[in-house]
Amino acid sequence: MIWEGIYVRLEDCLAVVTGGASGLGEAAVRNIVLKGGKAAIFDQSEEKGRQLAEELGESVLFIRADVTKEEDIRAAVNQAADVMGGINTLVNCAGIGAAEKVIGRNGAHHLANFARVIQVNLIGTFNVIRLAAEKMIGNEPNEHEERGVMINTASVAAFEGQIGQAAYSASKGGIVGMTLPIARELARYGIRVMTIAPGLFHTPLFDTLPEEARDSLGKTVPFPPRLGYPSEYGRLVQSIIENPMLNGETIRLDGAIRMQPK
Ligand SMILES: NC(=O)c1ccc[n+]([C@@H]2O[C@H](COP(=O)([O-])OP(=O)(O)OC[C@H]3O[C@@H](n4cnc5c(N)ncnc54)[C@H](O)[C@@H]3O)[C@@H](O)[C@H]2O)c1
Repeated sequence: MIWEGIYVRLEDCLAVVTGGASGLGEAAVRNIVLKGGKAAIFDQSEEKGRQLAEELGESVLFIRADVTKEEDIRAAVNQAADVMGGINTLVNCAGIGAAEKVIGRNGAHHLANFARVIQVNLIGTFNVIRLAAEKMIGNEPNEHEERGVMINTASVAAFEGQIGQAAYSASKGGIVGMTLPIARELARYGIRVMTIAPGLFHTPLFDTLPEEARDSLGKTVPFPPRLGYPSEYGRLVQSIIENPMLNGETIRLDGAIRMQPK
């Protein structure tokens, strides 16, 4: 048996994590730093981002940046690479939710609302991918010819969106769709591209719900019958970073849930 061992260790991670100030992105940042890596948080939420960076110490850098803005992300990528000594990992977590029917009580879906969700979730993800890729292709490859890895965050709504999720599902379906062509293109540079499609995770998104409502939502998950812990998302990010055969694919992380129409 050939045992190659782990190619990339978390302690070698120089990661950009968008949306890293909260929820799933925060969990990815915490795990990378816990294992000895460095992380740059790109987030709009200045207060939470600064707090987290202060708590985690010098391995974490917070940069206030909007993923939809070209100039923000170009500057943030340069700053992160300068401070950390490079970028070899990207975790795209910045995203917004939305619920609006095509025909609601007050008429047709607002086009601007649809466009906003696509702008942040899909175009924002692509914006960071392209600018991080431009930086990563200049990396010295490691001994296995790897220059980096990119991990995006879709949702199970990419596959079974509920009523009212037209915009959200379209944005997440777009992320799933672009994973393979980008992985194919960046393969020649030794950069892998993966996507995680989470089910229901207990992030600040769900804190607004009463505990009872959270529990009953959790029970809709076949096993384990609860909301996912953000740390479980962080562990899948770690597995993807460490396993070089994972490329060009979307992994559902959902306890076997299949969302119903409503
Ligand atoms: N929590 C879940 O159950 C769940 C399920 C499926 C998919 N997701 C996806 O996972 C990702 C993270 O979700 P979460 O639950 O951790 O949410 P969250 O709200 O806790 O975190 C999202 C972060 O993204 C940041 N952000 C939003 N718009 C931004 C922008 N334009 N530029 C920079 N930063 C921006 C926010 O400030 C926030 O810190 C999202 O893409 C979400 O769609 C979450």
